[in-house]
Amino acid sequence: MCGIVARIGEGDDAVDELLAGLTNLEYRGYDSAGIAVQNGCGVGVRKRAGGIDDLRNALATDGPSGSVGIGHTRWSTHGPPTDANAHPHTDCDGDVAVVHNGIIENYDELRRTLSKAGHAFESDTDTEVIPHLIESALADGASPAAAFRAAVDRIEGSYAVAAVIGGREAVYAARNDSPLVVGEGESAQYLGSDVPAFLEFTERVAYLEDGDVVRVTPGGFTVTDADGERVQRTTETVDWDPQDTGKGGYDHYMLKEINEQPTALGRSVSGRTDPDAGAIDLDGFPPGTFEGIERVHLVAMGTSYHAAMYAESLLARRDVPARAFMASEYAMSPPPEEDGTLVIAISQSGETADTIGAVRAARAERTMVVTNVVGSSLTRECDDTLLVRAGPEIGVAATKSFSSQVATLSLLAERIRRDVVGSPSPDSRAFLSALSDLPDHVRRVVEGTAAEEVADAFTDSEAYFFIGRGPGHAVALEGALKFKEITYEHAEGFTAAELKHGPLALVTEDTPVFAVFNGSEGDTETLGNVKEIRARGGPVIAVASGDAPDLGDAVDRVLPVPATHPDLVGVLANVQLQLVAYHAAKRRGRSIDKPRNLAKSVTV
Ligand code: M6R
Repeated sequence: MCGIVARIGEGDDAVDELLAGLTNLEYRGYDSAGIAVQNGCGVGVRKRAGGIDDLRNALATDGPSGSVGIGHTRWSTHGPPTDANAHPHTDCDGDVAVVHNGIIENYDELRRTLSKAGHAFESDTDTEVIPHLIESALADGASPAAAFRAAVDRIEGSYAVAAVIGGREAVYAARNDSPLVVGEGESAQYLGSDVPAFLEFTERVAYLEDGDVVRVTPGGFTVTDADGERVQRTTETVDWDPQDTGKGGYDHYMLKEINEQPTALGRSVSGRTDPDAGAIDLDGFPPGTFEGIERVHLVAMGTSYHAAMYAESLLARRDVPARAFMASEYAMSPPPEEDGTLVIAISQSGETADTIGAVRAARAERTMVVTNVVGSSLTRECDDTLLVRAGPEIGVAATKSFSSQVATLSLLAERIRRDVVGSPSPDSRAFLSALSDLPDHVRRVVEGTAAEEVADAFTDSEAYFFIGRGPGHAVALEGALKFKEITYEHAEGFTAAELKHGPLALVTEDTPVFAVFNGSEGDTETLGNVKEIRARGGPVIAVASGDAPDLGDAVDRVLPVPATHPDLVGVLANVQLQLVAYHAAKRRGRSIDKPRNLAKSVTV
């Protein structure tokens, strides 16, 4: 989960565009960064441990220039984040420079063979074998394109890799199980791990397939597939606004993306439902699509797993047997094959390796992905794709993608119910109407929140607990994940009932507990659990709608959300918890958009 960018043009210097691309990709990894620029005869490389600003500072005093170059921002897998381990990596003579995202599984063996042949290595990375493989093929007389292909043919594992070779006005690249897209500009061509890498320069994009090898020159690009056959990859225009990938005046992407939720939800739902007619119109999933489905397996990781848990509750309420699985566990031991199993992968990025692994391992009749990223790897792995349309999410902490996932999955759950059970769920019109109101309800939460005050009131606590039931349990886990991820404080989520089976032993006056009320059945029991916490001195902050039972003085504070359909209260409650986490992290001075040790896409 590193970020790759390349710029291949004429005349103008590539360095500024490479740095702009790396800045847009920094969410993918931020341990170290580097660039290599082809200047007509040789290759100039600069790389630094640290963020893009450290690299920018280094380049300000002593930078190479040239019109063709590659860049990389790293999330370490092999070796610590040092200058030496930063990409690009070079061959013995410094004539070949390579950036890579992924893992080379046979690097140990390749490194031994290359070392025996006299190649000298300078880093701990798996990547470094690639420039030496290219060097060795060039020495055997291969052309640059053939040498690159020969190197790619010898590596095993997952990779998006790009190389520059001294004296060649071209970038050579390949992908296998790691994302890589081509950007077709007017005066220059681009490569990126993701579209935001070059979105400010071009909106024309071609998605590469696994096994593709591409040669990009200032005038265009040519692709050969895994068999070496020339293939066409169609170019399409993406409708993302480059402004969407900036901070838009907010201090952090996370806060911007929390505030964008009304718009994102509007996009997720718009045109997909007609509440007055009680109709659902999911692009590509007309009525009858899910006839014959007997059970649903939802597979995902992290925040997307919490959306999967939420959807499990929604499907269960609609009499559709469903189970959420952590994708990594599903991949290791997929349930036995049974007729009528639909596997739904949920992934913001569409690139999460564990989730891809689950889909590949699935013994299912059909697979589909619910994702935010058009053309991502999971859209290729699965039979069908349903887009959540949240727009680009840059902050490492997933926020608007969760809300949009739940909204999209709630519509999907109702579509599945109608096909499987043969009738709409009893309160489906009320649900569809509440879904249309959801963007406005989220706006009211964001504008009226007291989350900052709550975050400030509990700055010195020992730990932070989150409880809930049904969809509220998914929200409790998500609230805890968001809190720990960006504050670095100990935070844990539980089902409300679970507390007295063990975790209650941890509750003291220094452990605030956030209790999610669903505005429905189960709230009375949650109130009982809250009283048990208060009886042990634990402060309680309720996140509740007007439909929750009278909380009286059973809680210390309330973060209110508008009354709505019980299926959707959790989305509103989650927005309050996102804001609590954000303000708690800000008060602690944390690196909110790029929390330590993490990266946005976990592609390894
Ligand atoms: O792209 P995905 O939704 O598949 O990512 C899954 C998780 O890595 C991700 O949700 C992660 O947990 C979030 N960064 C948490 O905020």
